Amino acid sequence: MDTAQNQAKKKIIFSGMQPTGVLTLGNYIGALKNWIDLQDQYNCLYCIVDLHSLTVRQDPARLRKRSREVLMQYIAAGLDPEKNIIFYQSHVPAHSELSWILSCITYMGELNRMTQFKEKAQKNEGNVNAGLFTYPVLMAADILLYQADLVPVGEDQKQHLEIARDIATRFNNRYGNVFTIPEAYIPKVGARIMSLQEPTKKMSKSDENENAYIQILDEPNRIMNKIKRAVTDSEGQIRYSDQQPGVKNLLNIYSSLSGESIESALEHFENKGYGDLKKEVGETIVEALRPIQERFKELEKNKDYIDQIIKDNGDKANCFAQRTLRKVQKKVGLPPRI
Ligand code: AMP
Ligand code: TRP
Repeated sequence: MDTAQNQAKKKIIFSGMQPTGVLTLGNYIGALKNWIDLQDQYNCLYCIVDLHSLTVRQDPARLRKRSREVLMQYIAAGLDPEKNIIFYQSHVPAHSELSWILSCITYMGELNRMTQFKEKAQKNEGNVNAGLFTYPVLMAADILLYQADLVPVGEDQKQHLEIARDIATRFNNRYGNVFTIPEAYIPKVGARIMSLQEPTKKMSKSDENENAYIQILDEPNRIMNKIKRAVTDSEGQIRYSDQQPGVKNLLNIYSSLSGESIESALEHFENKGYGDLKKEVGETIVEALRPIQERFKELEKNKDYIDQIIKDNGDKANCFAQRTLRKVQKKVGLPPRI
């Protein structure tokens, strides 16, 4: 049983995903799956970071629909909305307010070093907007508002976590201790699931080639076909090596979904060919995603239930966030409300 005291002592986790598309197997293995494993030991907040999505041009109706779908995918994957605070970033104005204050203690030079900014700026040449540049400051605000101890993310977010720590430390040094300094929590296997078509690139939900990624909601047939088409190599030997990135990626997927270590997966596939590997990896994915897909279909029918979660969790998050924001406003010298 969770006594009030126990609850108070539990550490805090915060993480989020952008509703820019349907979640992929990379999102699931790199982040979501860990969130589910952590939900009993920590007080967790899981956000749908819709404001971050606006840094890339979005179709409004589609963004709205996807935000709701991401929330349902969180729950379908096993996040319990009673135990975790699951909410939309835009429903808590404190994120934007803190972000402004933090942007005034963040340097252009720091933001200029962010590899994600450089990559996205290159990809969206016609739309290198200010939001894309200050994206990591909003992310720092997300995390710091809730005094998070731990932030479970995939490897690509490591640099953003470091800048969040730097900003928090700078604030604390300048104004007095307000923020907990957060730590990244990155899985040992599966922190970077690669594209099935170009296995030296990360699997991304915004890839132009649909065969490059598996969506959490892909039908079994589609999953099997995408894995069948996954790019491997001409070595013909199943090894866990950087020289064989395609095979390595399939082994990582297999290992994180089956819970088997890489060593035992290699033993399992000893003397087998790529065809067998692909068949088993495909089946493992299908079985891992089946219950999520079934629950998602149930949730789709339950509009009122989802609306209630959005409302209740949004209120809880607001309450929590306001406490930190007030402290920050006071520390930096903004006048108190009368
Ligand atoms: P995003 O889709 O960029 O909002 O990412 C949401 C979460 O999924 C973050 O924690 C990412 O680090 C993680 N993630 C995204 N793509 C991958 C991938 N290919 N492999 C592992 N983790 C990923
Ligand atoms: N930048 C993260 C991503 O693209 C999403 C994100 C926004 C996030 N705010 C966060 C992740 C706070 C963890 C904590 O994956």
